[in-house]
Amino acid sequence: MKTIIEPFRIKAVEPLRMTTREEREGILRDAHFNVFNIRSRDVLIDLLTDSGTGAMSSLQWAAIMRGDESYAGAESFFRFRDVVRDLTGFDHILPTHQGRAAERILFELVGGPRKIVPNNNHFDTTRANIEHSGAEAVDLPIAEAADPANRHPFKGNMDVAKLEALVARVGADRIPLCMVTVTNNSAGGQPVSLENLRAVRAVCDRHGIPLFLDACRFAENAFFIKRRERGYQERGIRDIVREMFELADGATISAKKDGLVNIGGILLIRDEALAQRADALLILTEGFVTYGGLAGRDLEAMAQGLEEVVLEDYLAYRIRSTEYLGERLLRIGYQIVEPPGGHAIYIDAGGLLPRIPPAQFPGQALVCALYRAAGIRSVEVGSVMFGGKDTPPPLELVRLAIPRRVYTQSHIDYVVEAAAEVYARRAELRGLRMTHEPPFLRHFTATFEELA
Ligand code: F0G
Repeated sequence: MKTIIEPFRIKAVEPLRMTTREEREGILRDAHFNVFNIRSRDVLIDLLTDSGTGAMSSLQWAAIMRGDESYAGAESFFRFRDVVRDLTGFDHILPTHQGRAAERILFELVGGPRKIVPNNNHFDTTRANIEHSGAEAVDLPIAEAADPANRHPFKGNMDVAKLEALVARVGADRIPLCMVTVTNNSAGGQPVSLENLRAVRAVCDRHGIPLFLDACRFAENAFFIKRRERGYQERGIRDIVREMFELADGATISAKKDGLVNIGGILLIRDEALAQRADALLILTEGFVTYGGLAGRDLEAMAQGLEEVVLEDYLAYRIRSTEYLGERLLRIGYQIVEPPGGHAIYIDAGGLLPRIPPAQFPGQALVCALYRAAGIRSVEVGSVMFGGKDTPPPLELVRLAIPRRVYTQSHIDYVVEAAAEVYARRAELRGLRMTHEPPFLRHFTATFEELA
């Protein structure tokens, strides 16, 4: 059998609402050409994010009913803690309401003026939390990541030589920790190899710098390691996951990705003293240590989701369905970030629309075109998201993120047809002007008008 099918059948369905092109024209204008302002009822296929948008399993829904809503010492917390402990080997496990809450607590503790935090690529909320603390966030991707067509098997890796050079330049005392994001979202959902993690770890060890993972998509990363890294083909996913976490002194996790839940996050910290300070902050702003801003039922759903996400049949389907979309887009003529990543396909909009300069947001133009053509919602990852600073982003990308266990192959085929139509009419796409620019994370609330 060649077809890798969805390893589930559907038990509850959520109807989709069709719209006409004329309706979408008006909706887009009313949203000021920012798709974050569009109501989800007006979106047919929502590829805005893979975060919190997955479908839960029947066992997760069953676990929800078991949720223990005690303020302190809930059974649900202990079930959650045991699953996370078993998966990661960490003892000190803090639940948070989502990934950025873990980031906020961590960087309130270790960030601050003059501090510098390297990463392969910081995700936007991680960077924003670091900068909010007064520290500086530095990206150290490998050179291959800058070339969309380069098919490096671990294009998410950190450039270890650049890390060495940074430490030599600023001094280890200014680096409270080093992060590595798995998979590397901003670089195209690309994996990081265990070899690279070990090399980063070695640099950190030499200088006494703790290593933290941003481990939102740890299971997808482990699957890529099993497929691509020498020596791991016969290893189980759980084993590989364990090996990744054992290299780290801590981790921030948005469980809205590989936790297979709609809300939830985790902060892992090995150092007991730091963990206790984190507990205090957790209680201050999130909730008591046995619920951290979540309901008991959310902890149950996370515990079950974390068991399901490391199943090989699930991961084979997951990675294949993303790759399928990538292959079809390449066939149309789109340059995407190759090879296809784990959770999303990233289209090189800069290359597609050379007439539209970065200042007129070619990525946003493509986002608008996909919505107009077929009600598909994607997100710009380029000058809208990262622009307005001294250095422009290296690439103008559009991300099509795939929610977990939500869309079938025919939904994706429909996306491919729409993408083909947009490709054929790419010469007609228009650039935009930003009419409102918020100070932080501007892509969420910026407004635009289309240029003539
Ligand atoms: N780190 C990475 C690598 C992420 O991709 C995200 C979220 C976060 C941290 C923050 O987690 O949303 O639970 O607070 N990424 C989503 C996305 C929003 O669309 O890529 P959160």
